[in-house]
Amino acid sequence: MVDPRSPSTPSDPDLASVRAAARTHLLHEGTVDRYRQVLAEGIDRVARVVADADRPCTGISPGELNSLVSAVDLDRPLGDTTAALDELADVYLRDAVYFHHPRYLAHLNCPVAIPALLGEAVLSALNSSLDTWDQSAGATLIERRLVDWTARRIGFGDAADGVFTSGGTQSNLQALLLAREELLDRLGSPRHDALPRMRILMSEAGHFSVHKAARLLGLRRDAVLPVPVDQSWRMMPAALARELVRCRERGEHVVAVVATAGTTDFGSIDPLPEIADLCAEAGVWLHVDAAYGGGLLVSRTRSHLLAGIDRADSVTVDFHKTFFQPVSSSALVVGDGAVLRHATDRADYLNPRWMAEREVPNQVDKSLQTTRRFDALKLWLTLRVTGPEQLGVLFDEVVERAGEAWRLLGADPRFEVVTPSPLSTVVFRYVEDGADQEALDGAILHAREALAASGSGVVASTRVHGRHHLKLTLLNPRTTVEDIAHLVELIAEHAGGYLFAPDTAKWRAECPSTTSSPSAWVRTT
Ligand SMILES: Cc1ncc(COP(=O)(O)O)c(C=O)c1O
Repeated sequence: MVDPRSPSTPSDPDLASVRAAARTHLLHEGTVDRYRQVLAEGIDRVARVVADADRPCTGISPGELNSLVSAVDLDRPLGDTTAALDELADVYLRDAVYFHHPRYLAHLNCPVAIPALLGEAVLSALNSSLDTWDQSAGATLIERRLVDWTARRIGFGDAADGVFTSGGTQSNLQALLLAREELLDRLGSPRHDALPRMRILMSEAGHFSVHKAARLLGLRRDAVLPVPVDQSWRMMPAALARELVRCRERGEHVVAVVATAGTTDFGSIDPLPEIADLCAEAGVWLHVDAAYGGGLLVSRTRSHLLAGIDRADSVTVDFHKTFFQPVSSSALVVGDGAVLRHATDRADYLNPRWMAEREVPNQVDKSLQTTRRFDALKLWLTLRVTGPEQLGVLFDEVVERAGEAWRLLGADPRFEVVTPSPLSTVVFRYVEDGADQEALDGAILHAREALAASGSGVVASTRVHGRHHLKLTLLNPRTTVEDIAHLVELIAEHAGGYLFAPDTAKWRAECPSTTSSPSAWVRTT
């Protein structure tokens, strides 16, 4: 048997030099010059890529890029930062999707605040972990201050608490876990009896992460009951009231009502005060998913749109959407911090009970994660350098721009626009007299893919009442109305070209996502 204390290969003459070389890649007091030089070189590369990007993406196909990535031999290091960055340019940097570019208008990705990038560099260099005080010290206190700051903005009282998470999906999952445990405590019935009867009520326009959370929490696949929305894609309180009654009559237990403050497609904000009234009356947990609309907490002119959010039991806020933070940065905030006990488990090596009794501030007691990034530092430095007001001004600007885009598209007979958004999305459909709806669906999907393949712009698509639509999500204040008008022209050209293609005998209803050779896999510049 090998003695684990003995050196593995004591006679290997190379070992000492390999070890010495390996150590030069670790950050310590002897390598700070290398650290400075390597980071500076990396930052310089990124700065050049950002400065030179003349389009939001190159439209490269997964197949083309995959051949470059696959060709890299991970067992043969380049041993040199410049060479590694050259290679990275080929496999990633050159063909990345640039969210800072004004013609990236697809998903909820934002250009990032420079102080947050500084935070990113600091937090990864020191590598603090937010699970326990003995791995984080000031980092824990900074996160706690930011949770308190967010809770105050929400309007919660002194009992509020929360924790940073990896994103809205995790924040929603944790909120529903807490709600489920609170309900189980109240019901007092065995878990296996109660779980199949548990339901979550959310509008039809709510986020799919809630469905995933329900499954992870052991609820039935159909446990999330969709509450109908009005023409503005807001949950209808009367419909919610009916659903709550139906649940009671059927003997179902409502874990939570999930109200959305900023639906992903329409930016619609559910009527929070009315929903809060109904939840209070029924004694049901109210979770507000403000992953997108959370940015209104710092808006100068629109924070009133979140009226009623202070009556929630829990709130999701994604700083990596509307606070211009790099991924990941999100928080779950609860009105009564005591409920976070449902996320607590104890390990002798990490957070034993005696630590809790001595009030050692261990964030792991509140989190689903153990080792956890100090993402809060990015928001901290952003607030300390930039301040909340400037963040709010940036968000307000994109909301205004979305209004302009909505008017532009509404005045264009080639398009139909769906309801105006109180936030920053615009959902629209290309239309053409005489074309059947399937053909238009095909044209719309083709236009989106052709646009991205050309690299001229990136927009999203979604379905509204079963029909394909295009979606602009504005989060870049540098996007102008001219940028949007330019993309709209390109979209009309691609859609029209698809419908009237000479090789098309009649209107084509081909759906790229269901054909065997989707056009996205082919560069069509
Ligand atoms: C309303 C809403 N909730 C939750 C999420 C999930 O957030 P994340 O992608 O950060 O997990 C999103 C993402 O777009 C969202 O729009």
